[in-house]
Amino acid sequence: MIRDVQDEIIKLKKENDICILAHSYQGHEILEVADFVGDSYKLSVDATKVTNKNILFCGVHFMAETAKMLSPEKRVYLANPMAGCPMAEQMEPEMIEKIKEREPDRKVVAYINTTAALKTVCDVCVTSSSAVKIVSSMPDKKLLFIPDCNLGAFVQKACPDKDIMLLNGGCPVHAAVTADEVTEAKAKHPGALLLVHPECRPQVSEQADYVGSTAGIINFAKASDAKEFIIGTEISIAEHLQFECPDKRFYVLSKKIVCPNMKLTTLYEVYNSVRSIAENDGEAFEILMSDELISKARVCIDEMLRLGG
Ligand code: 13P
Ligand code: SF4
Repeated sequence: MIRDVQDEIIKLKKENDICILAHSYQGHEILEVADFVGDSYKLSVDATKVTNKNILFCGVHFMAETAKMLSPEKRVYLANPMAGCPMAEQMEPEMIEKIKEREPDRKVVAYINTTAALKTVCDVCVTSSSAVKIVSSMPDKKLLFIPDCNLGAFVQKACPDKDIMLLNGGCPVHAAVTADEVTEAKAKHPGALLLVHPECRPQVSEQADYVGSTAGIINFAKASDAKEFIIGTEISIAEHLQFECPDKRFYVLSKKIVCPNMKLTTLYEVYNSVRSIAENDGEAFEILMSDELISKARVCIDEMLRLGG
């Protein structure tokens, strides 16, 4: 049954010039029908390479918005219109403008998990895989890092010469993991390496053997000679790794690290979206943005691609 739906999706996307981009947090059955799979940074770069007329994004809203900004001439759709990222909505542009008025020499670094409107008041975007590289390559010393204070604290530790102002934002899913859960997981799996995403709190990251983005965690686990790993990011990553590396063992750091927004997209929504795009019936959720918003918000994404490449 799943295979039949997947075959139909593959047929429809070929017939209708649709490219599917899927974040690694999506389920395995969705990754199997995608043309590009990866973390936020890789998918941003991939979006610039797509030659198809239509892009269907399986992930959350800011990711599809980023793809639209990078390929404004294409029609970009999000598989589930309800899939937002709470962190992206945490700060308003006006709040950042006020800080900029007070401290005009402080450059604003925005995690890519932000709305296009917020990006218009920022100087450069980063993802979790490019944040340290980009911040350390900036000539500016005084920075404001938004919205994730945990990723910001991780960057501050890696770039001690910078003066980084942080605000109180972050990913509610990763930030929910506690230091006690780390102690419990380590006691249960004493031989395992702990790999965590920098969206986790410093008390968690400090105990890790490796801290990095989704792609960083996947690459580290694949390349490592170790046989057991505790994965401190969205639980889908432990599942994908277990599938790809059957000779190794992967444990989840906490069963709480489930992103309800990423999980909103199902294979049936992917099927319904490609069918609607094929029939042009207006049911698929298209990302629509004004040219003005795209040109203003894109500046910091282009800067990210320039500095992070
Ligand atoms: P990365 O894809 O940059 O690792 O970020 C993870 C995440 O939480 C996506 O929203
Ligand atoms: Fe947003 Fe966190 Fe979900 Fe990523 S894991 S989409 S940052 S809520």
